[in-house]
Parts: sequence; structure tokens; C-alpha cells
Amino acid sequence: MRKLIEVKHLSKSYRISSKEQVQALQDVNFTIHEGEMIAIVGTSGSGKSTLLRILGCIDSQTTGHYHLNGFDIEGKTDQELAHIRNQSIGFVMQDFSLIEDYSVKKNVLLPLTYEKNKEKRQQQKQHLLSLLQKLNIASKENQKVTSLSGGQKQRVAIARALINNPAILLADEPTGALDQKTSKEIMNILHELHAEGKTIIIVTHDLQIAEQCQRIFRIEDGLLNEVYS
Ligand SMILES: Nc1ncnc2c1ncn2[C@@H]1O[C@H](COP(=O)(O)OP(=O)(O)OP(=O)(O)O)[C@@H](O)[C@H]1O
Ligand SMILES: [Mg+2]
Repeated sequence: MRKLIEVKHLSKSYRISSKEQVQALQDVNFTIHEGEMIAIVGTSGSGKSTLLRILGCIDSQTTGHYHLNGFDIEGKTDQELAHIRNQSIGFVMQDFSLIEDYSVKKNVLLPLTYEKNKEKRQQQKQHLLSLLQKLNIASKENQKVTSLSGGQKQRVAIARALINNPAILLADEPTGALDQKTSKEIMNILHELHAEGKTIIIVTHDLQIAEQCQRIFRIEDGLLNEVYS
């Protein structure tokens, strides 16, 4: 399988005042191949979301290297990063990051405003309906997000992440706020996407969820180790 993500000696620190900084990630190294399903586990504050944001090109590392699809992410302009993100990455944020006052449809179509190619934009709109059907929220298409349940909001967030048909889906605690049944349904969707060939990286607190993945990375105080069972 082709190497999709390669991270070498990656560190991230946040400056919180002129004297203080937080070391969120320290010398992280791993490779992810196309089509893998990976879980990232660790206690609260260990650096999981920080790592996912860097992998999703939403944030950048302080030192070290991140290669995505063979491209070095370092030194890219914001515009180049936005393009890479749009082409290859779907991101499901920890807090959904939906616009509550917009309809389901408008939320899911939001990433398309960045697409310049008309024909592609048309294809993506057609993709919308099949996506909403697949995620079982087609009947909610014109409803405002405020009126949805937590599980339905999670599905909208996943649909929005998939609208550009990215090769990689990054999901930060996709079942964190859900009951067991809904959480199982969301995991079934992620398994289906994996079976279709997507590379999936899930951050989770839940070991039962992590164990459903092919590989588990554990982060403790910014240090990452792969867990071998
Ligand atoms: N923007 C920021 N500015 C300063 N410090 C930050 C920032 N974002 C994260 N941190 C710090 O970096 C560390 C890692 O945070 P991160 O959000 O990656 O943790 P996490 O593993 O995702 O936690 P949780 O399970 O609670 O979501 C924490 O100490 C956090 O306080
Ligand atoms: Mg987090």
C-alpha cells in the first residue's frame, strides 16, 4: 500500500505568555498507508486534537516534518493549504463546528464555496443527496441544525466532511457525545467508508471504539506510541 501520511520528529508547542509555553506534541513519528483505519487514544489534554489538526492542515507543527501524499506541508501558503485540505481531507471537528442557524443542506455544502470548477461543483451538489441518504438524514435536508439531535448533528458533520470526496477522513471524538446505540450507528458508517477505501483516523476516549480500528496510537503528554496487542 502507498504511503499517505508520513510524520517525522513532529513537535508542537503553544506559547501561552511571554514566559510560558505548552509542549503539546513531542518528537512524534509514524507512517500511515492508504486505506488504513487508525485510532488515536489518550487522556484529556494529551495532544490528540492538536495532532489531528496538524494532519488536517488546519494548524502547523513547530518543528519536524509532515508529508501528505508525498508533499511536504511545511512552507505552504494558507491558500495552498486550503487547496490541499479541500482536495484530500475531510475533517469532523470535536464540537461539530456546524452553523446551527443554517439548514442541513447549507451546512453540508459549505466546503463547496471554495471549489472554482463549475462542473465539479455541479457533481458535488449531486453527491449531496446520495450522501444524506447514506447517512440517513435525507429527510432533514432543509431543517435547521438547531432542531437536530446530537447523533443527527454528528451525521451532518460527517456528510460535510465527505462532500468533496476526500481520500482521508479525520474525526475528532465522533462518538464522544453520543449514546451507545447512536455511537454504534456512527461507527458502522465509518466502517462502511473504510470498506470503500477511505483512510480513516479517529480520535477517541473509548477503547471499544479504538479496538475496532486496525492500528491504535496512544498519546501521553505529547508523546506518541503505537499500541500492539
Ligand atoms: N490554542 C491553544 N493554545 C494554547 N494551548 C493549547 C491550545 N490548544 C491546545 N492547547 C494545549 O495543548 C495540550 C493538548 O491539547 P489538545 O486539545 O490537543 O488535547 P486533547 O488530547 O485533544 O484533549 P481532549 O481529550 O480534552 O480533547 C493541552 O495542554 C492544551 O491545553
Ligand atoms: Mg481534543
